[in-house]
Amino acid sequence: MARLSVNVDHVATVRQARRDHEPDPVAAASMAELAGADGITVHLREDRRHIQDRDVEIIRMTCKTVLNLEMAATTEMVSIALRVKPEMVTIVPEKREELTTEGGLDVVCCEASLSASVSKLKAGGIHVNLFVDALPEVMKASHRIGADGVELHTGTYANAGSKDEREAELEKIKASASLASELGLKVHAGHGLDYRNVQAVREIPEIEEFAIGFSIIARSVYVGIDMAVREMADLVR
Ligand code: PXP
Repeated sequence: MARLSVNVDHVATVRQARRDHEPDPVAAASMAELAGADGITVHLREDRRHIQDRDVEIIRMTCKTVLNLEMAATTEMVSIALRVKPEMVTIVPEKREELTTEGGLDVVCCEASLSASVSKLKAGGIHVNLFVDALPEVMKASHRIGADGVELHTGTYANAGSKDEREAELEKIKASASLASELGLKVHAGHGLDYRNVQAVREIPEIEEFAIGFSIIARSVYVGIDMAVREMADLVR
């Protein structure tokens, strides 16, 4: 049965629109856990556009499931992670101008620098995933670097403009999930997944966990976080 990690970044996006105290991603994280989330994901971006340091600190203290910190592999972020000690870190590429994470990590080109960050985090007892595009050479490089797992980028699948394109992307995700699993990597998936497109991806047996944010937080405006999380958890499982 696959797990659902709920990303609460976009609760913070709404709060930061007014630089106010509400809505609070800390409260949203607790409500998501009460609704059955298996984990909570937050992305502490270099520009702090949504999640703030204070959010990460408090969620670390209150999270009762598994805290997954998404971050770039910078010296600052590695030292925050080693101090805060989330159970899991997902290393993501980060560009200041992007609206959201736009592509997987360039694992092949940055093997040496990524491998140093991965070792430091693992030495701190943290499970390390790399957020990557579904490509065979990237699975092999992730394994060489010593990552514990990969989070397969489902954004291209989710945003596919045609049925053929979507099916081709799904095949790539299936092949990479299978290769990653053969290499001993844990397989997670996320980005752009919603109540409709998650169904085909959840049929892939190697995927153990889904990180889903935007669609759940958007739906919670209509039905509340509790219902939105329960509905997604039912689909994922
Ligand atoms: N996984 C990673 C690595 C991400 O960067 C994001 C977006 O923050 C997600 C999953 C969740 O994507 P979405 O908000 O589109 O569900």
